[in-house]
Amino acid sequence: MSAVVVEPNPVHLEQPPLPPAEPCVVVIFGATGDLTKRKLMPALCRLTDQGCLESVRILGVGRSPMADGEFQSFVHDALEDSKKTENLDEETWLKFSKRLHYMSGELDDENTYRQVTEHLEELASQGASKNHLFYLATPPSLFSVIVKRLGEAGLANEDGHWSRIIIEKPFGRDLESAKALNATVAEVFNESQVYRIDHYLGKDTVQNILVFRFGNSMFEPIWNRNYVDYVEITAAESVGVGSRAGYYEEAGALRDMVANHLLQLLTLTAMEPPVAFDADSVREEKVQVLRSIRRMKPEQVAERTVRAQYGPRVVESERVKGYKEQEGVKPSSVTETYAAVEFVISNWRWSGVPFYVRTGKGLARHLTEIAVHLKRTPQALFARTPVDEIEPNVIVLRIQPNEGITVSFGAKRPGFEMLTNTVHMDFCYQRAFGVESPDAYEMLLLDVMQGDATLFIRSDEVEAQWRLITPIEEAWSNQGVKELPVYEAGSDGPAEADELPGRNGHRWRRLAESQAGCD
Ligand code: BG6
Repeated sequence: MSAVVVEPNPVHLEQPPLPPAEPCVVVIFGATGDLTKRKLMPALCRLTDQGCLESVRILGVGRSPMADGEFQSFVHDALEDSKKTENLDEETWLKFSKRLHYMSGELDDENTYRQVTEHLEELASQGASKNHLFYLATPPSLFSVIVKRLGEAGLANEDGHWSRIIIEKPFGRDLESAKALNATVAEVFNESQVYRIDHYLGKDTVQNILVFRFGNSMFEPIWNRNYVDYVEITAAESVGVGSRAGYYEEAGALRDMVANHLLQLLTLTAMEPPVAFDADSVREEKVQVLRSIRRMKPEQVAERTVRAQYGPRVVESERVKGYKEQEGVKPSSVTETYAAVEFVISNWRWSGVPFYVRTGKGLARHLTEIAVHLKRTPQALFARTPVDEIEPNVIVLRIQPNEGITVSFGAKRPGFEMLTNTVHMDFCYQRAFGVESPDAYEMLLLDVMQGDATLFIRSDEVEAQWRLITPIEEAWSNQGVKELPVYEAGSDGPAEADELPGRNGHRWRRLAESQAGCD
């Protein structure tokens, strides 16, 4: 196979300056937690560095007692540990650190919220904005109580200023708990104040799905059941669950990845064009896709889903532990580290086109991609091979890494005979634009601070996602299996998964196939 590269002259773009955030105080609940350390602080620091947070202060709230100075040292260490901010210069740090404040308190105690109010008033008396952005970076078990306490303290009120709340995934663990959480949130906040984060929507390549489909006239005419044979969506990770076994044992791959990130990729791939690129129009079309997917009956779950766990493997003669041997995992665990599902979208555009999604930890490669497989030509005019041996066209949207898009098609081989080979036309973000994409959290945080909810999940969207996932979880738990199939860590996943597309005469792309791209 050969490659056709179609961006001869890299466009080394000057990044346009980012717009400033609206003045506000960002209050982070869970200020000493992992998410704050790994994602939020690096993102806020980089936004400060780019001049977007001139009128923004940050108030961390956590359980550990700490003075502002100690919190600042904690944040400094976190920034040094992050790839995005490891080479932090003194000037940026000074600019950022002077925005950082901290207070301690139990997050279920109403006194804490009284103190938060006092703290915010004190900051306002020093010139800080009265707009408040509350970020729930805590374990999900605290979401409801924090929302209630914010309501009781009057912190959700908007009286001449705004109050917004960011809620991290997981937003519930099934349909019932998601509805309950939505109801609690709705008692305190209007939907327009609520920003539910799915960080995949902050990735440039994910937003580019819409540009690719609706900003070009050449793909949309074929983006339907007349031309598309099947769609594959893969989010593979080579790492295992690491130190997150406690969380992961309760979640599993279906809840952790399919219920949110993969369904988001699916809706963006399948949705109808919105009337405008604004929050309501885009989210309305996404919800319609979820509503068009039939909920599975238990016998369909057995047929259209696969789950498995990674086993041990040997790397350079050293044995790497399998899932069940990891600390925090029960030896009898049936939590899946791999999940594959065939979704059937019953609407005019997609009737009869299977959407296969798969995700797993401990796999051969780290990659997320959407592969749209087009139908075969009806006749093999140019090859002395049967038509079913000619490779159909595939459009691969590489979400990460090697961000870009590849279109594969047949080309005549040089020579006297009319023989064809598959070649690739390749767009690579890095090669074409020469600039790095911002981190998803930078983009999403700035959007919230500007009041743009387009890239956030609406309450009905969350419920529509769980309406699809909960019947699968229930059927799995009713199957009462004692052991899951095991796949070798570092492989493409369990052999059982091949049967899923295999039943329909389709096949997964091998993870190594995606090597094409920017390399
Ligand atoms: C998180 C999941 O939401 O997404 C993790 O909880 C997963 O288990 C991560 O590793 C993957 O995100 P990304 O951006 O690295 O693909």
